[in-house]
Amino acid sequence: MMRPTPLLTLLALAAPAMAVFAHPAAAADGAAIFQTNCAVCHSVDAGTNKLGPSLFGIVGRKSASVDSFTYSPAMMKAGLTWDAATLDKYLTDPQALVPGTKMILLGIKSGDDRKALIDFLAAQN
Ligand code: HEC
Repeated sequence: MMRPTPLLTLLALAAPAMAVFAHPAAAADGAAIFQTNCAVCHSVDAGTNKLGPSLFGIVGRKSASVDSFTYSPAMMKAGLTWDAATLDKYLTDPQALVPGTKMILLGIKSGDDRKALIDFLAAQN
């Protein structure tokens, strides 16, 4: 009859605990934040629109500039340039920056998460 040794028992208990401790490091991973919060509606591939427009090259782009996408009237007249500051505001509360936007997003509440996400977007060009 084999009984689990105390060492094996300890490892079995430690493995899930280590997985939990690994999580905070991943919290500000821009690619993961994009996957979780944006990818259902957005692609970062050029020319691929979903429910929202492609976000390829979004940092530095003028608002409502994807010709193949039908924007809301509110976004059509927003007249913004998407830089770190405007994206930070929009992703905190889309309706506050562009009242009437058809993008439905509760907002990314953590400033660290928004920064990691915007850094990720800035690399998609
Ligand atoms: C439920 C679908 C949905 C989700 C989730 C979503 N978006 Fe959007 N997004 C849209 C739609 C629809 C628009 C067009 C808004 C309009 O025309 O008013 C848009 C527009 C945008 C724009 C402006 C694009 C342009 O060409 O002017 C940016 C930037 C943007 N989204 C970023 C994001 C980011 C980053 C996330 C994740 C945090 C996200 N969105 C999550 C649907 C979504």
